Amino acid sequence: MNLSITQKLAIGFLTIAFSTAAVGTLAYVSLLRISSELQVVVAAPLNTASARDREIVQRVRRLIRQSAQDKIILFAGMILSFIIAWWGWLFLSRQVADPIISLTQKADLISRQSGKLHETVTISGQDETKKLAMAFNQMSASLQEQQMEIERINRELERRDQLLGEANAKLERLNAMKSDFLSILSHELRTPLTVIKGYLSLIKNQRLGPINEQQLKGLTIADERADHLNSLISDLLDLSRIELNKYEIRQEVWDLAKMAEAAVDSMRPLFEKKGLRFKTHMPAELPLVYADKQKVSQVLTNLLSNAIKFTPAGGEVILEALPSVEERSGEEIWPEGDDFVQINVKDTGIGLAEEEIQKIFDKFYQVDDSVTREHGGSGLGLCIARNIVELHHGRMWVKSRKGEGSTFSFTLPKADSSLMTEAKAAPSAKEGKPLFSLAAADEKVSSDSRKRQKIGGEDMAERSILLVDNNPLIQQLIITCLGALPCKIITASDGIEALERVFQTPVDLIVLDINLPRLSGYDLCQIIKTNEKTKHIPVVILSASAQRSEIERGFQMGANDYITHPFVPEEVVKRIHNLMISKTA
Ligand SMILES: Nc1ncnc2c1ncn2[C@@H]1O[C@H](COP(=O)(O)OP(=O)(O)OP(=O)(O)O)[C@@H](O)[C@H]1O
Ligand SMILES: [Mg+2]
Repeated sequence: MNLSITQKLAIGFLTIAFSTAAVGTLAYVSLLRISSELQVVVAAPLNTASARDREIVQRVRRLIRQSAQDKIILFAGMILSFIIAWWGWLFLSRQVADPIISLTQKADLISRQSGKLHETVTISGQDETKKLAMAFNQMSASLQEQQMEIERINRELERRDQLLGEANAKLERLNAMKSDFLSILSHELRTPLTVIKGYLSLIKNQRLGPINEQQLKGLTIADERADHLNSLISDLLDLSRIELNKYEIRQEVWDLAKMAEAAVDSMRPLFEKKGLRFKTHMPAELPLVYADKQKVSQVLTNLLSNAIKFTPAGGEVILEALPSVEERSGEEIWPEGDDFVQINVKDTGIGLAEEEIQKIFDKFYQVDDSVTREHGGSGLGLCIARNIVELHHGRMWVKSRKGEGSTFSFTLPKADSSLMTEAKAAPSAKEGKPLFSLAAADEKVSSDSRKRQKIGGEDMAERSILLVDNNPLIQQLIITCLGALPCKIITASDGIEALERVFQTPVDLIVLDINLPRLSGYDLCQIIKTNEKTKHIPVVILSASAQRSEIERGFQMGANDYITHPFVPEEVVKRIHNLMISKTA
């Protein structure tokens, strides 16, 4: 039953009053009965009674008179108890129930309307209800203060949110600028390097006249330094792309042994030169991997070149692959271990101290010792390598002790079993070609061309090449390189000019840069390759735009070949020559 406190008090007091009345009535009735019985006794004549009996009768009569008075007192007491009960109810209602009801109503108001925290309760007196009311008022005052504080914090948060939003927008703008800057930088750094490397190669190969032994030595050193500069630029650009989350990897199904072989082949002369023993362990049951061949080669090359650099002559370097991931020392076995293969590069070199191991994967970190100083380097190789491995969802770690050699390990994902069945059936996967190669077009051009290399240079006479590049230095370098071919070279410095040339004078091949004024190399290529009159003309893109997405876009626009800066002059001549004769064969 849902009763208010006043009702409950009323019930309480009424119960007391009624029970008092009931007891009073019972007493009154028994008094009545006793006195009527006694009246019967005293009504009898006293003539024959003894003195003792008369005295008893006298006493009983006094008692009857007394009981009549008691009855009046009892009745008055009953009335009084009702009055006291009513008064008690009234008093308690006013003093206790009313303040509690008032408190309840205010608390209800506060809870329903959170803004009404200023509500207070006024109660006079000194008792507990007064204290309760004071505590309530204090509580509502402190709630009000807290609400004001929360509102202030909210306003502050909103302001910070706004600032954060602005900072984010600024950061995005800066990131976009950094990205633009990166591609400009990449272009601007590679172009002069292309010119330097191009002429060094032409001079070294005596294409611009005879040179003596000493000049050749000097040029070889300059060429090596230019290569070093090129790899430094590539590393810096890679690092910036990693930091901008713009580093792209393209995973395909590959035979790891073949991939490793290619990387090892390019390093073998360096092992021999330093007097190091080199072994590879590639088990026959090694599963195919799902990886970016070019990037994994970069990882292997860095690990092998580190092993060469940091192992003294007479030492040994081992490259081994394991069909699944081994337990890592001091760490738990990976749950994903069976889905990955492990590659180890072990050396018997100078090794690393515990505190160095923690840092060698940081960018630009190099152990500061004479061996490192002797070899130079930028300290970026391992940082980039680890990022490449992690982009493949693999991991890279090192086990080493100072003076006892090092083992660098990394993992690569195995190819999906369904892909593996197809890949194993396809001989190409075992022959070093991916099953799903996006660079297939590139390789096709090279291999087709190679087949036709025997065709003589006489086919080239009377043929013309349109060279489109807005950089006069690169233009001049390419003209010098193409001087090896007996054909006419026409030049254009922007896309529109090139387009006019193509429609005015028939040409047999177009060498095209991407970053051209007025009309980009991509657009120009697409126009040429979609026009009935010109679509048969082979297009070779020769550009500093070396990102994989840029190369792919070139092929999508219809290019027949894509060569990136810095290029090797002989290679460019060979590929252009092969493409021209393959089109006429
Ligand atoms: N096999 C190794 N044995 C001993 N120390 C090594 C080994 N590999 C790497 N280090 C240490 O880790 C450092 C970082 O290696 P990392 O490959 O990142 O840079 P680097 O080889 O100095 O320069 P680069 O950027 O040309 O690769 C090295 O400078 C060297 O001090
Ligand atoms: Mg290195």
